[in-house]
Amino acid sequence: MKITALQGSARKKGNTARILGWVEEELVSLGHSVETIYLNAQTLNGCLGCAKCKETPDSVGCVQKDDVPEILGKMVSSQLVIFATPLYFWGYTAQIKAVVDRTYSLYTNYHQPDHVSLVAGQRQALLSTGAGPYENNAEGLFTAFRRMQEPHKTVNAGELYIGSCTTPDMLTDLARRQAIEFAQKIVA
Ligand SMILES: Cc1cc2nc3c(=O)[nH]c(=O)nc-3n(C[C@H](O)[C@H](O)[C@H](O)COP(=O)(O)O)c2cc1C
Repeated sequence: MKITALQGSARKKGNTARILGWVEEELVSLGHSVETIYLNAQTLNGCLGCAKCKETPDSVGCVQKDDVPEILGKMVSSQLVIFATPLYFWGYTAQIKAVVDRTYSLYTNYHQPDHVSLVAGQRQALLSTGAGPYENNAEGLFTAFRRMQEPHKTVNAGELYIGSCTTPDMLTDLARRQAIEFAQKIVA
């Protein structure tokens, strides 16, 4: 399976990167091809809301000339996309939210009978780390992710939240096992 992972933490050796690394190792050992995009090194503008992309239902069609159209192209050509983000203020980091907002250009005519999506049927998974628990903290992020999948017309391949994170070296063996199980699930 061709897999694109969006790494939304600026911390290259942080909790999210460590857990995503375990996920990637398992996916590769299962024979999958994974490209992880470190979003913080990319030029990512916010969506302009100009709706020019809606004029080109067969292609990404975003008018902005930053790094996002290429990232969206990689997402479109993947069978599975992993969204990996630390929990920032009960939501995505700015880096990954910029890409999420720009996926506005991947579909047309949402809520209409002729609603089409360039990623229809694709598997998408969410991985997040945070300092606090899931309850009363991370739900909003997971709700936003599931709602994004409606206009995308995609399949929820799996979700993983690892809470009580401090430093990567303090991540437990349980977290590693959860990452491996998550990897196995999202391609099953
Ligand atoms: C700006 C900022 C906002 C944060 N907001 C939350 C939050 O709302 N809930 C939470 O549990 N942790 C929050 N955290 C903690 C991080 O989500 C947590 O430390 C995470 O594991 C960091 O991941 P990283 O090492 O991959 O960057 C926040 C951290 C920062 C820097």
